[in-house]
Amino acid sequence: MPKRIKFLLVSGPTREPLDPVRYLTNHSTGVMGQRLFEALRRRGHAVDWVRCPEEAGTALELLGVLRRKIRGCDALIMAAAVCDARPARFSKDKIKKRALGVIRLVKNPDILAALAKKKKRSQFFVGFALESKGLLKHARDKMDAKRLDLVIAQPVTVKKTPFGGGNLEAYVIRRSGGHKHFASVSKKALAGFVVRETEKLLARWPSS
Ligand code: C5P
Repeated sequence: MPKRIKFLLVSGPTREPLDPVRYLTNHSTGVMGQRLFEALRRRGHAVDWVRCPEEAGTALELLGVLRRKIRGCDALIMAAAVCDARPARFSKDKIKKRALGVIRLVKNPDILAALAKKKKRSQFFVGFALESKGLLKHARDKMDAKRLDLVIAQPVTVKKTPFGGGNLEAYVIRRSGGHKHFASVSKKALAGFVVRETEKLLARWPSS
């Protein structure tokens, strides 16, 4: 068995409320997070699992939670589908239909980029990238901007999405160079590969 690693795993969608009834979100189901959790436990690792939206509802709440937890982990797997924007104003009262024509949004902070600023040399960060065009180039750009060591890049179009329990296409890209392409892979197999790849790369890592 590999050395026991302390993982911080983050999964699922954030929900950005507009009023007590409505919110903005995305199609993330949290299945990838579940498969990653199972793979990590099968390999005997310690896992602190933050599930969105149950344990952190909004992007801002999630940032607060992760800022507190990040210091204690060896590896972060950021599989959360963070909403890129939130309604500019939360209304305590339900907004009347006639006032819903235009909803002003403001950008959410990029959580990984914020955590990357204080990343320790000994820590290992894994992120995801979903793109409709220029998948590998954008994934590499994200890797640099967010100081990621491994990126799981997935193509997304209206017809082909990676959401839910089915097979998906994915590239697992290493910062150190090279990638592995899966034309069609189950989330269980992909999670197992990501965990073993993290173990392998972390075994060669500098200590803090
Ligand atoms: O949204 P984007 O394609 O940049 O997401 C890439 C990675 O960044 C994902 O791992 C996602 O969880 C993370 N992310 C984040 N904060 C955001 C948006 C995305 O940490 N506001």
